[in-house]
Amino acid sequence: IKKIAVLTSGGDAPGMNPCIRAVVRTAIYHKLDVVGIRQGYQGLIDNNMYDMSPRSVSNILDLGGTILKTARCLPFRTDEGMEIAYNNLKAQGIEALVVIGGDGTFTGALRFSKKYPDIAVMGVPGTIDNDLCGTDYTLGFDTATNTVIEALDKIRDTADAHDRLFFIEVMGRDSGCIALRAGISCGAEAILLPEKETAIHELIASLKAGEHNKKSSSIVIVAEGDKHGGAYDVAQMVKEEIKNYDVKVTILGHLQRGGSPSAFDRILGSRLGYAAVLGLINGETQKMAGLKGNSVRLTSLEEALMVHEYKLEEDLMQMVEILSI
Ligand code: F6P
Repeated sequence: IKKIAVLTSGGDAPGMNPCIRAVVRTAIYHKLDVVGIRQGYQGLIDNNMYDMSPRSVSNILDLGGTILKTARCLPFRTDEGMEIAYNNLKAQGIEALVVIGGDGTFTGALRFSKKYPDIAVMGVPGTIDNDLCGTDYTLGFDTATNTVIEALDKIRDTADAHDRLFFIEVMGRDSGCIALRAGISCGAEAILLPEKETAIHELIASLKAGEHNKKSSSIVIVAEGDKHGGAYDVAQMVKEEIKNYDVKVTILGHLQRGGSPSAFDRILGSRLGYAAVLGLINGETQKMAGLKGNSVRLTSLEEALMVHEYKLEEDLMQMVEILSI
């Protein structure tokens, strides 16, 4: 191959910029031309592309978001949209595509590559949700978890000062990864996860036990994918039963997606971007570069997209219960 393109798609995630940098510089080092596509698949359809050089990615390791911008692009799901994208790629002489994103991005890439197999595709997992198979971590998960921790620590200060019970809603779509990690790190009294149905009466009982044990504050983390609804719904269900605490709700929202990537995400982005380009040079396609243990591995996009069988770490949940008495 002589010319590749790179794009970021779906929700942005800290670590995307270090990954773009690695893709661009690895490709140029190996004498490939690199084109940056703006706004994900939308840019492919709109022909919104530019030639990149090593200097296009100078001083971006510490930047959150993505210098290529991103989008959730509906037209790329249609045959017509894909055909326009394909013709634009062919007109530019682009033979391979690195897509950095989550499951929606990979679903699009796989469909596209099956329809137009002469364009090789390589995925890099970039989503704060950590919900892909074939990699232990996705880009952005570590930074987002640290951002949530910072927010929770601050909320603990004020919760403690006022003897309050807080319900905090965190992102993650159908994954409770951020909620569980942040909950352990901040000593949450309870964590509601999509992977485990916690009965409201059990939650009430554990909060009452906390009252009885003279806890001055309590924090309940509600993952956005939890089956009871959002943090407001859960707070409503619990409020009447918990008399000694004033109840408050905070939805952390999109602040969880921003910020400078952590060391972990900078290193992961660099490693996976580097591996993605080497994979393409070696003739791989329809794969994702991921991290298993401490090794970078290529997994088929099909496997990466398998229903994320996130095994609830029962031992961790039990630990949360014990450590919050
Ligand atoms: O997939 C990343 C994510 O931040 C999810 O955690 C969340 O459910 C979703 O994206 C929000 O998407 P949007 O920014 O389009 O509202």
